[in-house]
Amino acid sequence: MEIKKVGVVGCGLMGHGIVQVSAEAGYEVVVAEIDQGALDKGIGKISKQLGRAVEKGKIEQADADAVLDRITGTTELADFADCDLVIEAVTENLDTKLGLWKQLDGIVKDEAYFATNTSSLPVINQAAATTRPGQFLGLHFFNPVQRMPLLEVIQSVTTSPEAMGIGLAYGEKLKKTTVETKDKAGFIVNRLLVPYLLDGIRGLEEGIGTIEEIDTAMKAGAGHPMGPLTLSDFVGLDTLHSISNVMFDEFRERRFAAPPTLRKMVAAGFFGVKSGRGFYDYSGEKPVPVNPGL
Ligand code: CAA
Repeated sequence: MEIKKVGVVGCGLMGHGIVQVSAEAGYEVVVAEIDQGALDKGIGKISKQLGRAVEKGKIEQADADAVLDRITGTTELADFADCDLVIEAVTENLDTKLGLWKQLDGIVKDEAYFATNTSSLPVINQAAATTRPGQFLGLHFFNPVQRMPLLEVIQSVTTSPEAMGIGLAYGEKLKKTTVETKDKAGFIVNRLLVPYLLDGIRGLEEGIGTIEEIDTAMKAGAGHPMGPLTLSDFVGLDTLHSISNVMFDEFRERRFAAPPTLRKMVAAGFFGVKSGRGFYDYSGEKPVPVNPGL
């Protein structure tokens, strides 16, 4: 089966990027959000990024217009009925995802494929909530989706070789570097990245350096584009917290446990860049480190 129409549920941090790269690759895309405001915000971000690419002379205005024309926003899942591939990019909460798949399973044509962009939740639990577990896989993108080359293509115990082939072909059309992996919490990247980010926060708690010193050290000493505290803010402290909880539940190892500072910041609503405050305050022109008051 050839994928022509892609459905994306969620137009937030990850969803809007998945919509953009899919439309840029030539797919017709339908994207759903909870309300018109959230939809306008997500599609607005895509439009702004395309506008900047035109200004920089990277693409022609006509091409940017064609990308936007291929995107249809909706607040009704009924509009996903004729999609060939549906990808969810909603909040990292299993109950939310299960409820969504049960609804979509009754709406979307039987031969279509389903994929979750989960960072850590088991793919199999979601696959098993549908009547098409063989056509269900994980497609894990990285933030910013438009920029990060990797797509993890995840095989659960029920995912058919055909479904893996569909995921790999989709990733290739997006010009992503695809890596096949298994349905183990965190897959490859988060298995290694999450303990590192959590250790950055634990290091701050233990006083190995200030926020700036820890970030500067990892940039200048290990060649990372962002230090661990900047990257935690960028990923979203709420998302990092959810991922660490899932991984700790799965493996019961301290390295995956959320440090107290992370838990407190999330409780306070300090989610990082998306909320305007995390380890840094993003209200001014440049991010300013804010001691979380350990
Ligand atoms: N959205 C879209 N495009 C973006 C962007 C964003 N948020 N941020 C930057 N870009 C684009 C810019 O438009 C620019 O594009 P052009 O080259 O076409 O002009 C390009 O990226 C470079 O931008 P900048 O020069 O402003 O920034 P930079 O060179 O400092 O790079 C970065 C920015 C790519 C984000 C870089 O800092 C980086 O790679 N950071 C690490 C990101 C990372 O590790 N992501 C993975 C997080 S883990 C995850 O996502 C998985 C999970 O489950 C938690």
